[in-house]
Parts: sequence; C-alpha cells; structure tokens
Amino acid sequence: MSFEPKIIGFFCNWCSYAATDLAGISRMKYLPNVRLIRVMCTGRVDERLILKAFVAGADGVLVCGCHPGDCHYMKGNLSARRRVTGLRPFLDAVGIGRDRLRLQWIGASDGPMVPETINSFTETIKQLGPSPLSRRQNGH
Ligand code: FES
Repeated sequence: MSFEPKIIGFFCNWCSYAATDLAGISRMKYLPNVRLIRVMCTGRVDERLILKAFVAGADGVLVCGCHPGDCHYMKGNLSARRRVTGLRPFLDAVGIGRDRLRLQWIGASDGPMVPETINSFTETIKQLGPSPLSRRQNGH
C-alpha cells in the first residue's frame, strides 16, 4: 500500500487561504493530503502549534503566509520565518527532520502557487516516509 502523508497546513487568511479559494474557483487540482487550518496571520503560528501538529501525527507541516511587506499585522510573517528557522535544528535533533516543516509565501492572487506548493511538499513528505511520531502512533 502506498504511503499517503498527513500534512497540516497553516494558511494565512489574507493571502494563502484566499489564493486557495482562487485555485478552487479556477478548478486547479492538487493532492488531497493537506488539511488546511486558516489562521489570521502566520504570526499566530508558534512553535507550540507546529509541534502539536507533529505530536498529533502529522507527517509534515506547511506554513503559508503573506510575502514580506504584505503582512496585515506588519511583521507576523517575519516572526513566523524566525520561528520556523529556529525550530529546524530542534526537529533534526528529535529525529523528525527539518524537511518536514516548510514555510512558503503565497500572495492572494498567486492561485497557481497553491497546487505547486501543496504538490511539491506532499511529494517531499512521501519520499521521507511517515514521521517517526506518526509511525509510533500507528504501532510500527
Ligand atoms: S497577515 Fe498574512 S502572514 Fe500576516
């Protein structure tokens, strides 16, 4: 049986989530592995939320927000970038691996970026296989 990753996507309401709507309206197809969680700004996505997603069994976490300079709350996206960057060595150290966490800027009119990002991240996670935490949960 092929591995279908479970991915949690924290998408900013003002840009990436709007772009997802646009992609949907334009009937763009993308892999169904990402469960989207709409946040008002990626600045809301802290280390605790990301780790909670992994502990809950996510094989990957995708954080998508406004381009630098476009954040509705000034620098929320830059805080998100700082947190994601800071978390990477920790993810390596605990055996999850930094590549299971991705940050991507997607503007509201970037509809095509949504399938591109979701598909490429899903492929990356498929190649990495199940996260050690989700494997443990499934008794492997
Ligand atoms: S409002 Fe979109 S990342 Fe801050």
